[in-house]
Amino acid sequence: MCGIVGYIGRQIAYPILIEGLKKLEYRGYDSAGVALLCHEGLKVVKAKGEITVLEEKVGQSFPAGNMGIGHTRWATHGAPSDVNAHPHCACTEEFTVVHNGIIENYRALRHWLESEGHRFSSETDTEVLAHLVEHYYNGDLLKTVQEAIKKVEGSFAMVVMCRGENDKLVCARRDSPLIIGLGEGENFIASDVPAVLNYTRKIYILEDGEFAVITASSVQICSAECTMLQKEVREITWDAVAAEKGGFRHFMLKEIMEQPRALRETMRGRLLNGGREINLSELNLTPEEINDISRIYIVACGTAYHAGLVGKYAMEKLLRLPVEVDLASEFRYRDPLLDEKTMVIVISQSGETADTLAALRLARSRGNKVLAITNVVGSSVSREADKVLYTWAGPEIAVASTKAYLTQILSLYLLTLYLAQVRGLLDRQELEKAGEALFALPAKVEEILSREVEIQDIAAYLSCWESTFFIGRNMDFAVAMEGALKLKEISYIHAEAYASGELKHGTLALIVEGIPVIALATQKDIIEKSLSNIKEVKARNGYVICLAQEGTEDLQNEVDRVFYLPATEDFLTPILSVVPLQLLSYYAAVARCCPVDKPRNLAKSVTVE
Ligand code: M6R
Repeated sequence: MCGIVGYIGRQIAYPILIEGLKKLEYRGYDSAGVALLCHEGLKVVKAKGEITVLEEKVGQSFPAGNMGIGHTRWATHGAPSDVNAHPHCACTEEFTVVHNGIIENYRALRHWLESEGHRFSSETDTEVLAHLVEHYYNGDLLKTVQEAIKKVEGSFAMVVMCRGENDKLVCARRDSPLIIGLGEGENFIASDVPAVLNYTRKIYILEDGEFAVITASSVQICSAECTMLQKEVREITWDAVAAEKGGFRHFMLKEIMEQPRALRETMRGRLLNGGREINLSELNLTPEEINDISRIYIVACGTAYHAGLVGKYAMEKLLRLPVEVDLASEFRYRDPLLDEKTMVIVISQSGETADTLAALRLARSRGNKVLAITNVVGSSVSREADKVLYTWAGPEIAVASTKAYLTQILSLYLLTLYLAQVRGLLDRQELEKAGEALFALPAKVEEILSREVEIQDIAAYLSCWESTFFIGRNMDFAVAMEGALKLKEISYIHAEAYASGELKHGTLALIVEGIPVIALATQKDIIEKSLSNIKEVKARNGYVICLAQEGTEDLQNEVDRVFYLPATEDFLTPILSVVPLQLLSYYAAVARCCPVDKPRNLAKSVTVE
C-alpha cells in the first residue's frame, strides 16, 4: 500500500503534493518522492524516511512548476532507499511514473526490457512501468499507457507524466484505489480522499480497467477500448479526520474491512490459476532443502503467535511433521532444542518486535536457517532472516492486529501447501481442491463483513459483562485465543480462552448465569465433541454465542446465539471465524467508549523487551 498524489493547474504544485502526501502517510512512510515539471525541465527528488526528510532535501528553493506527481512508499519490491523511492523514470527523464500495487510479472518484463536495451536503476517492480511506457511510446501518452499495461500482470494504480506532453497527466487503475479531485482550473489525483480534501470535495472514483487523462481544465475517463465514460461526480461529506480513515470511525474497523483485499494481495502471484497452482519460488528453497526438513519451529509474539498456532494444526495435518510453536519471549531464554533439520519460522507484522528478533538471532547463532513471515519490507526481521515471505496486508495502524493476522495465516497455508506439493504429500487433485478453497476465501470474508449488524447486536450483550470465555477445540482453540486477546486488548473485558475439553478441569466453576461464552464449533469432524462442551456450559446457564459453519444448522437449538460462517474446508476456517470475533471486540469496545486504536498501556510495535 502506497500513497499517490498528482496535481495539474495554476498553483505551484510542490506544496500541494507535499501536503497531500502527508495526508496519505498512513498508507506508507518508508520513503517519499516528487517529480515536478517546470520551465527548466523535470526535477525529481526522492528520500528514504518520512516526508519531512524529503522536505529537508528539497529545501526552500523548490521548483515553481504547475504540475507534478508524488508518492509515499510502503516498500514491497526492494528495501526502502532513495533509489527505490518513487517517482521512477525510464532510461531518460522523458517519462516519470508513480505506482501503488504489485507487478507480478516484473522479473520477466525487466529481463525482456533489458534485452531491448533498457537500463534499470532500482530494484522495484514499478520501474518496469516507466520503461514499458518508454518502449511503446507513439506520440500519444494515453494510447501508450493502454498498450503498455496490456503486458502487465498484477495490481496497479499509476500516474504517468511525460515531458513532451506537459499539459496532462495520465492515470490507470487495476485493483488499487485511485480518485480524481475536481477543481476550478486545476485537477488532482490521489490514492485516497484526504489528499485532496483541502482543495475540493468533488471527486471521481476511478474503477478497475479505467484510464483518465487529466489537464488543468478537463478530466476525460475512458475504458481500455477507448470508449469515453460519463462518471458520476461524488460529493465528499466526511470531515478531514474521518477521511483519513476512509470514512471509518477507527483505523481498526477500516483495517478489518480491508481484509479481503489484503488476502488477495498476499495470494497474488503465489496462488495461480484460481488456486490450482502454488508458487513460492520467491523463497529459493531447493527440493533437497524442503525434503530435508524433519521438524518445524514457529516463534512469535501476541497475535502473530496465535497465527503460528493455526499454522501448527495445518502443517501437522498436511505435512505430518512435528511442529512446535513458542512465544519468542520464552524461546529466547529456554535453550531450545534445535537441530540442523529443524526449519525455524518467525512471524512478525512489524518485523521489529524485540523478542522475536532475539529469537531469530538465537536460532541463526545455532546454525539454523530462519524463514520470516513479516509485513514490513526492510524491517530488522526481514533483513536478518535467511528467507522472507511477505504478507501484503499494507500498513497496519491500529494497535490491535487484524489484517496482519489474516495474512499471516494465509502465508502459513501457502507455505504448507507448497511444502506438501514439493514433498509429494498431496496428489494433484487434493492440492487443487485445497488451493481453490483458499482462493475462494476473500469473497467469503466479504460476505461475513456484510453481516456486521448481526455482530453489533451480540456485542451489545457482551459489552455489559466484565468477564468472558472463548472455547474451541484444535484450530478453533487457536482462534479462540486470538478472539480473547482482541477482546481484552481493546474493550478491557477480561477474556480467557480454553480448549473446550479443559473446562471441566477447573474453569467450569466460573460459569454463572448469563456469562458470555463464545464457543467456536467450526470443525465438522469433531462437532459432536464441541457440542457436548457447549451443553456443559448451557447446563450452568452460561450464555453461549456460537460460531459454526453453514450446514450445521441443528446447532442453533443448543445455543443462545449463533453466527454461521460460509462453508469451507475445515482446516481453512480460522480465516473466516476470526473475522466475527474481531468485529465483536471492536463493537464491544465502541459500546464501552474505549480508545479503540490506541488501547491503554500498549504500543503498536514492541521494540523493547
Ligand atoms: O509486530 P509483531 O507481529 O511482531 O507484534 C507482535 C505483537 O506485539 C502483536 O501481535 C500484539 O499482540 C497485537 N497488538 C495484538 O493485537
